[in-house]
Amino acid sequence: MSAHGAPIPMTARAGRSLTGTAEVPGDKSISHRAIILGAMAVGETRVTGLLEGQDVLDTARAMRAFGAEVSRDDDGTWHVHGVGVGGFAEPGNVIDCGNSGTGVRLIMGTMATSPITATFTGDASLNGRPMGRVTDPLALFGTRAYGRQGGRLPMTVVGAADPVPVRYTVPVPSAQVKSAVLLAGLNAPGETVVIEAEATRDHSERMLAGFGAKVQIDDTSEGRVITLTGQPELRPQVIAVPRDPSSAAFPVCAALICEGSDVLVPNIGLNPTRAGLFETLIEMGADLTYENPREEGGEPVADLRARFSPNMRGIEVPPERAPSMIDEYPILSVVAANAEGTTVMRGVKELRVKESDRIDAMARGLELCGVTVAETEDSFTVEGRGAGGVPGGATCAARLDHRIAMSFLICGMAAQAAVSVDDAGPIATSFPIFEPLMRGLGADLVRDAG
Ligand code: S3P
Repeated sequence: MSAHGAPIPMTARAGRSLTGTAEVPGDKSISHRAIILGAMAVGETRVTGLLEGQDVLDTARAMRAFGAEVSRDDDGTWHVHGVGVGGFAEPGNVIDCGNSGTGVRLIMGTMATSPITATFTGDASLNGRPMGRVTDPLALFGTRAYGRQGGRLPMTVVGAADPVPVRYTVPVPSAQVKSAVLLAGLNAPGETVVIEAEATRDHSERMLAGFGAKVQIDDTSEGRVITLTGQPELRPQVIAVPRDPSSAAFPVCAALICEGSDVLVPNIGLNPTRAGLFETLIEMGADLTYENPREEGGEPVADLRARFSPNMRGIEVPPERAPSMIDEYPILSVVAANAEGTTVMRGVKELRVKESDRIDAMARGLELCGVTVAETEDSFTVEGRGAGGVPGGATCAARLDHRIAMSFLICGMAAQAAVSVDDAGPIATSFPIFEPLMRGLGADLVRDAG
């Protein structure tokens, strides 16, 4: 079932090269944060380039429920009139975050230090994901949370009326957990300190500083130490959201594996905490170049150019690179299946708690497509079959996971026989224009009768 309606079965076939320009949508991580921090500032924040995917729309709706005004002009500019730090109202109804782990975890953090109560729920995928990783550190502020067994949604969070600042070492590499603690720290007096052993995406730190919060970052032997001074007055901002490298990954990887392809993907955010996939592809021998590198809104940006690369080789992807490409392993495993030799991905157990268990989802689907794989709790290995060597001819389960659905459709674009997914509906959470965009490049992508 799709997250928001009847399943949309879809099939991709090979045979066409992909050419042209792929204008991918705005960055999902930055879009969530722009809406949430806009809601915490006093005055009007303006956002252009916002990802209008379901995940972000659900966050916008949630911010309205907490009292912010969020609206969109016909030209696609978004306006957020915030309520100020500590100004959240108690929502009158359950907050439905749909499919979005980022949405729910960041919003829980943001309301956790206000004297209000909110109940959160989501779709079947989100309601199966662990929330204890966020509610455990929030408890240190004085927040209480009552969820289902295993810390699952639906869950009621009772904000701390008298929050105390917190010093917390994040036990898993997670930008969502780090961000939830920092956002909770906004309404606690004094300094909240978050320590991460491995650097994860730093959009929250950058944007908090942009809104005028005092954020200090120290690289120490313990790891990255982030110190936020609580109860700032956040100043509204004008934000141009860069395009999402995690969405760019799909047309880029499709071009690399489809014969004769040459695709330009302009204006992609290349924050080093997000760009691990592109580094990995280049190590594999991909014909991938960064054109016109520049800086926009404090983030490095370039135009990516990807051409068919028939001679890619499998590699060992170093575990320390995982946080900078955590959402890209599903599509990397499709590229790996089209490379020569073995690709080993280590240090990837976080993939098991994403929108689906992404190691299991990719392993089972790739096997159906005739690819040999192996897995441990923390690693995933794909035996490459060389360019165009994937047999295909399978229907793969998307498991309510946008990135799994897109990965198997791209797999079908280079496979010997068609590859279908049972439900392409979840793609709308992060990449609502995937279907017309890929067709515009020449992909043979069709909706099947349901
Ligand atoms: C995100 C962080 C990552 C990533 C997710 C977006 C964010 O999750 O997988 O798609 O915007 O903070 P984790 O922080 O759980 O690794």
